[in-house]
Amino acid sequence: MENREPCKSSRFEIRNYLTSSFYKEISTDVLTGLTADQKFIPSKYFYDERGSKLYELICKLPEYYLTRTDLSILEEKGGTIMEPFEKGDLVELGSGANWKIRTLIDAANEPHGANLRYVPVDVSESALVAASEDLINKYPKLRVLGIVADFTRHLDRIPNEFPKLTILFGSTIGNFSEVESQEFLRTVANSIKPGDRFLIGLDMIKEKNVMEAAYNDAQGVTSAFNRNILHIINRELNANFDISVFDHVAFFNGEEEQVEMHLQAKHRTAVEIKNLNLSVEFEKGETIHTEISRKFSKESAMKMFSRAGLTVARWFTDPKGWFSLVEVVRSRF
Ligand code: AVI
Repeated sequence: MENREPCKSSRFEIRNYLTSSFYKEISTDVLTGLTADQKFIPSKYFYDERGSKLYELICKLPEYYLTRTDLSILEEKGGTIMEPFEKGDLVELGSGANWKIRTLIDAANEPHGANLRYVPVDVSESALVAASEDLINKYPKLRVLGIVADFTRHLDRIPNEFPKLTILFGSTIGNFSEVESQEFLRTVANSIKPGDRFLIGLDMIKEKNVMEAAYNDAQGVTSAFNRNILHIINRELNANFDISVFDHVAFFNGEEEQVEMHLQAKHRTAVEIKNLNLSVEFEKGETIHTEISRKFSKESAMKMFSRAGLTVARWFTDPKGWFSLVEVVRSRF
């Protein structure tokens, strides 16, 4: 899969810290998830090549307000965000195609990126190399240090010698459970030096129909994205899911303040997962829970940050207050 030649520029370096086997991990996770009372598959398995392409399409859908609202805040407030950060490492967690970071590099004092080192962190080496090459070509003075790693586990591998602005764009934190997000934010807090900042995207609670439409688009792209996870299990674990038996279901769970995505069996069915030596039965209407996408109020977000040892320094939002980019710093040193 990783077949692209790393670029030869002296401004680009790559370090790979991924050690665990994807196969071992998916085997354990699917065995745990599909033998639980409420069956589940962790949402991190959405993103094979097809899943990543579908997600890129989702980001452009008229109903999926998240990406364009996030981007509009960056375009509007990029200069202000970058003002106190003249020099140092711009660390992007889960960098993917990395086109949002360009708004911040463009907004920096020195437009060619001379005072900045961009540090993208991503699990896909090929995506990281491709995106870094594009950036190096676009910004003739920018240096790039690519870190191939799982940012939920390898935050300690990110260099700490320069001032740092670490960014988690989109609403990625929303895909973590409360426990996972606390654990992650505490690690973030511990990695922050005086003067360092952390910028994090949050999707805010709004009208239910707006949130639900974003996960039930008219073209059916989100449905294809959700159901693609079954193709991945079929391929990786030699399973025989009949994908046409499972419907995409997404709704806002008001009590938990999260949009949930499920795959719901249209009728009674059974699936063999050969590599796990496992047979799984589904009742009519039974679901596999595939994703949570937590939505925040200002209060719930403040609580989450303060419990993790982080203090809000600046809060950026759009005129409707639909999305937030929150700059946090460590509460105590
Ligand atoms: C990646 N993440 C922030 C997206 C979200 O909105 O939770 C994933 C997604 N799921 C369905 N549509 C988009």
